[in-house]
Amino acid sequence: MHITLSLIKADIGGYVGHSESHPNVLAKADECLARAKGDGLLIDYHVTKCGDDLQLIMTHQQGEDSEKIHKLAWDTFIEGTEVAKSLKLYGAGQDLLSDAFSGNVKGMGPGVAEMEIEERVSETVIMFMADKTSAGAWNLPLYKMFADPFNTIGLVIAPNMHSGFTFEVHDVKEHKKISLNTPEEMYDLLSFIGAPSRYTVKAVYSRETGEIAAVSSTQRLALIAGRYVGKDDPVCIVRAQAQFPAVGEVMEPFTLPLLVEGWMRGSHHGPLMPVAIADSTPTRFDGPPRVTAAGFQLSGGKLIGPRDMFADKSFDAVREQANQIADYMRRHGPFEPHRLPLEEMEYTTMPELMEKLADRFVDLD
Ligand code: 13P
Ligand code: 13P
Ligand code: MG
Ligand code: MG
Repeated sequence: MHITLSLIKADIGGYVGHSESHPNVLAKADECLARAKGDGLLIDYHVTKCGDDLQLIMTHQQGEDSEKIHKLAWDTFIEGTEVAKSLKLYGAGQDLLSDAFSGNVKGMGPGVAEMEIEERVSETVIMFMADKTSAGAWNLPLYKMFADPFNTIGLVIAPNMHSGFTFEVHDVKEHKKISLNTPEEMYDLLSFIGAPSRYTVKAVYSRETGEIAAVSSTQRLALIAGRYVGKDDPVCIVRAQAQFPAVGEVMEPFTLPLLVEGWMRGSHHGPLMPVAIADSTPTRFDGPPRVTAAGFQLSGGKLIGPRDMFADKSFDAVREQANQIADYMRRHGPFEPHRLPLEEMEYTTMPELMEKLADRFVDLD
């Protein structure tokens, strides 16, 4: 049975500030998607949030980039924005960069991860959602899941994973893509994806079967809008078990509170903290950046779940470590590498400053 999984998200208003989503906005989204399910457009759906980002998890048979599904998501964001405006939530409609829908939400502000699959006998999927960070945040975890045998023992001992995975990498500045095979092109792959502000892992494929294993959102809001509009707060869908990494191998990379771009004003490096969905409330210096995970079994496209995957106690120590790293990073205040390098900063006073002080710069000769 061919099923398309669509995870489409947008920040359409924060409560309080950028720290959370308001229950009335979530309820409105639920109402919109329930209608679409009733009409038969969706097989199933689940509405959730990660911090101030509204997450629409949908299953259907319309394929990827379906105008009907994208319009449903767009209209849901518009209706949710009306609720956000009525409550004067912070940045109501923040990620809706255009006034009119034109066939696809890509390039209009929302983040999109979609994959069309042939549902397996048992189809395990995990939806990862992050707040206060950017699309490249998935590079290191995806590398570990699908290419690092110290993380994923299946690469070594499971015959159906032993031939490795193919990574599709996007150059978000030049709008180009390249596919690289692991294990033999690991070093080439790392040359690119180790620079996550420019190169992002868009998708991963099984080399054994050619099936899609993971897909992420790679939209870069600031590159679309040409100005600061909040961080991308990306999402990623990962399939698990059998010819893919086991659930535990998919979750294991997040035991490292990796340093990512984002946090306060989208202009800092900070540790990515895996949390339960209820704890995606980035309040300390608008962070630290969060990642949540909703796990499902699919049954004829029905979403059996979610299980809140990071609610597990075994992530307590990572959270503790992330908080310690947050303290350490914060002590650098406005200095790099806590503050992002100039070219990556989303907020800057530099142009005004250079103009104001232009005639005070003198040549060193
Ligand atoms: P499967 O081969 O059934 O996917 O089991 C792997 C597993 O879950 C071990 O953790
Ligand atoms: P969001 O991208 O989550 O809206 O955060 C914006 C921000 O400036 C946080 O300080
Ligand atoms: Mg926001
Ligand atoms: Mg956000």
